[in-house]
Amino acid sequence: MSPGKRILNSGFPIPQLGFGTWQSAPGEVGTAVYEALKAGYRHLDLALMYVPGFLSPGLAGSSSKFSPSGSITNLHAIISYRNQKEIANGIQKAYKDIPGLKREDLFITSKLWNSQHHPEDVAAALDICLEQIGTEYLDLYLVHWPVAFQRGDLLLPVASSSSSDRGDVLIDDSISMVDTWKAMTELPKQKVRSVGVANHNVHQLENIIKGSGVTPSVNQIERHPHLRSDDLIDYCAEHGIHVTAYSPLGNNVIGDPLVINHPVVKEVAESASKRLGQTVTGANVVIAWAQVGGHSVIPKSVKPSRILDNFKEIVLTEEEIQAVDAIGKDRKRYNIPFCYYKPRWDVNIFDEAVEKIATSRAF
Ligand SMILES: NC(=O)c1ccc[n+]([C@@H]2O[C@H](COP(=O)([O-])OP(=O)(O)OC[C@H]3O[C@@H](n4cnc5c(N)ncnc54)[C@H](OP(=O)(O)O)[C@@H]3O)[C@@H](O)[C@H]2O)c1
Repeated sequence: MSPGKRILNSGFPIPQLGFGTWQSAPGEVGTAVYEALKAGYRHLDLALMYVPGFLSPGLAGSSSKFSPSGSITNLHAIISYRNQKEIANGIQKAYKDIPGLKREDLFITSKLWNSQHHPEDVAAALDICLEQIGTEYLDLYLVHWPVAFQRGDLLLPVASSSSSDRGDVLIDDSISMVDTWKAMTELPKQKVRSVGVANHNVHQLENIIKGSGVTPSVNQIERHPHLRSDDLIDYCAEHGIHVTAYSPLGNNVIGDPLVINHPVVKEVAESASKRLGQTVTGANVVIAWAQVGGHSVIPKSVKPSRILDNFKEIVLTEEEIQAVDAIGKDRKRYNIPFCYYKPRWDVNIFDEAVEKIATSRAF
């Protein structure tokens, strides 16, 4: 089934169902993207910094260096570099094997990393992405986080001393989010069709819109039944900002079961299976739920059978939607860099209770 499309405030269409690539390991991610394109996905979610094991002690703790000229000096950068390069190979293979498939059929998103926020670095950062992905343009380029790291070619600049045993990245509060956003809006249109943000709350969105006069096309946010984010969703709807849900299956690093295994999701999957006369999985249920209201959703898998299963679109009844909605009473946000990333980001991004003690505020 061909996924639905929505029109962004830039006038360009975005497929609702997309494919995620975070934490897909080198050696897996190119094949996964190839399998996704074969399955019918046309919307790919990439980033300069989708490092597998970003949170793992084995990889974290050291600084990472990447320079536009291609000199790469440590593990984070090597993996990050390979991720988009490997995806590029997967896409090229798909062009060869899928009859008629061409660049214009794809919707490719990538992201500006935190150490690239200085307005003078934004255009060069886009060029790095284009070179890695092997494309002349992106469909969507997002500010990955409302947090600027120390400017330079270190992807994770680490402070020499820290009160945390995870260490701390060097955050640069002097780079204004408005200035970074203005630089994004000034990128050449032939290189990027739409620009947007990720991980922004209402306050951060208001700030950049007021400061620049330009509304982002997209806000990509953590969203799943445990994190409905109704207020943010309403704000985005009022301002014509398209929402893309990340970690829609409930991916987390704290050992919680994926939300696709929640008893209510399983019950809905069973009743929908009976109603539709076909097997409906928990993943099908939450992917359908995420799209209610016209949002996009970008589930990730590296397993061909799951990649295929996640692409099977179903329509939920109002009753089923309400049942999944109710899971939101047990609210959980999983992607909090202050709590879970190594090195730690000593910054309050979402104003969650657990972040309030952070030294910096991203709003
Ligand atoms: N903007 C941001 O800051 C940001 C942050 C996080 C994520 N994202 C984007 O959003 C995408 C999705 O989020 P996510 O990767 O965090 O998590 P997710 O899509 O919620 O879940 C991925 C996990 O679910 C498993 N899985 C996938 N399909 C399954 C199925 N049908 N049945 C059982 N398990 C299944 C995957 O394992 P297998 O791979 O082994 O199948 C993986 O462990 C990312 O890949 C990335 O593109 C963006």
